[in-house]
Amino acid sequence: MVAAKRDFHTAIEYVESLERKDGLSVAELMDSNIRGGLTYNDFLVLPGYVGFPSSDVSLQTQLTKRITLNSPFVSSPMDTVTEAEMAIYMALNGGIGIIHHNCSPEDQAAMVKKVKAFENGFINSPVVIGPDFTVGDVKRMREECGFSGFPVTENGKFPGKLLGLVTSRDIQFLEDDSVKVTDIMTKDLVTGYQGITLSEGNAILKENKKGKLLIVDDKYNLVSMLSRTDLMKNEIYPLASKSATTKQLLCGAAIGTLPADRERLRLMVEAGLDVVIIDSSQGNSIFQIEMLKWIKKTFPELEVIAGNVATREQAANLISNGCDGLRIGMGSGSICITQEVMACGRPQATAVYNVCKFANEFGVPCMADGGVQNIGHITKALALGSSTVMMGGMLAGTTESPGDYFYRDGKRLKSYRGMGSIDAMQKTGKKGNASTSRYFSQSDKVLVAQGVSGAVVDKGSINKFLPYLYNGLQHSCQDIGVTSVTALKEGAVKGDVRFEFRTASAQLEGGINNLHSYEKRLHN
Ligand code: IMP
Repeated sequence: MVAAKRDFHTAIEYVESLERKDGLSVAELMDSNIRGGLTYNDFLVLPGYVGFPSSDVSLQTQLTKRITLNSPFVSSPMDTVTEAEMAIYMALNGGIGIIHHNCSPEDQAAMVKKVKAFENGFINSPVVIGPDFTVGDVKRMREECGFSGFPVTENGKFPGKLLGLVTSRDIQFLEDDSVKVTDIMTKDLVTGYQGITLSEGNAILKENKKGKLLIVDDKYNLVSMLSRTDLMKNEIYPLASKSATTKQLLCGAAIGTLPADRERLRLMVEAGLDVVIIDSSQGNSIFQIEMLKWIKKTFPELEVIAGNVATREQAANLISNGCDGLRIGMGSGSICITQEVMACGRPQATAVYNVCKFANEFGVPCMADGGVQNIGHITKALALGSSTVMMGGMLAGTTESPGDYFYRDGKRLKSYRGMGSIDAMQKTGKKGNASTSRYFSQSDKVLVAQGVSGAVVDKGSINKFLPYLYNGLQHSCQDIGVTSVTALKEGAVKGDVRFEFRTASAQLEGGINNLHSYEKRLHN
């Protein structure tokens, strides 16, 4: 039997009197003189006190100095991960998508536009048509724009005198594509006057059976529009990442560091881009610094995330040149062979800890990019100081990721490939395309791959997958005893959140053991 500690009345008093808390502080855990570089699997966070329901845990966090998100999830700018569809649903679920740049500048800007147009408070530049447009024109525009309500103005331009509205209901059963819209458009319109507030407009839409509220000036010129479907979306996605002023979804995109990328960025800024990532596997370069300085000077309102970096010296250069966020990771991606081929990189947990510790002192939020395979890895990345996590493989294979499903060995799959894979670098059939610029110098004669091309299994829609990550992360924080992502990070810095190093056998113990067979279902 253990002797009673006479000087203390309770076990709580005794444990509080001890010089050291159980486990390790984050600084002790990450002391590279002792253990070398660590990955997420090399350690665990110790449990704390649960005094609140997991639903109370706030996952609000900073993406950049000026952008706050309701969840820390970011989708990677890869051509098998983030195009408009992914970016829309990432933002609706509280995160943000970063649209890849392995495509023409026009295509990338069109994707940004699609995200920004998806959900609006007031739609301030609605797509309009003229009375001479045909039903065939409207059907084609519906395909191109992804929506089907087009106001008709006298001159077919915006702003212009309002004549009517064509919706899918008006053209649903029409087989003759040559019919003019003036013959089938709805003329009995619900209008509001310029100056109406968003809540007044929403109230009119709510009590009305019509789908669109058309806002007109005193000369009956269309000046903006409200949509009922947007209202409904607002209710379904309470966490949605939106601009405070325009209520449009937030959208990010990546660019390279070539001179042509400046024009690419200009097009995307015109389309409403909120944040740009300068996409380099080694971000500490003269090319990136020049680009960063140019962006900050040319588009002072645009938030810029620089990277990738894995050391504080790399970070210092980018912070000093004005970046609003940093992207951390070199060689940890699931499709990445950079560490093998280039001998350059850093185990991800060590990279995240060291860069975040430094950058957070300058108020620069960090994104842990690559190597995230489960919810536990997300918790660990945040506990090490990052504010957000960027995921590629975790989100590939979902309904919203680009590409078609195919079957192999009885499994439903989608392609997932590194942007430094030969496949991705040769997408446009010539050197100097966007993906190549991340991994390749223009003067080089041979493409040296830093990534592979593969396939991942169908994960269903991110509309289910992201809520799974969200709830899981809330539960994880609850186990640790922290009520928010901020508290998790602060607790680690103060030494209240504790850690344990995992030996190889501890990692085995933490896996599934001694079962004849099992099925691993992650969520219902
Ligand atoms: P994942 O989430 O582990 O699949 O890693 C995704 C991350 O890997 C991306 O966000 C990029 O930072 C990185 N990445 C993408 N393509 C390549 C590549 O071809 N080689 C090395 N890293 C890559």
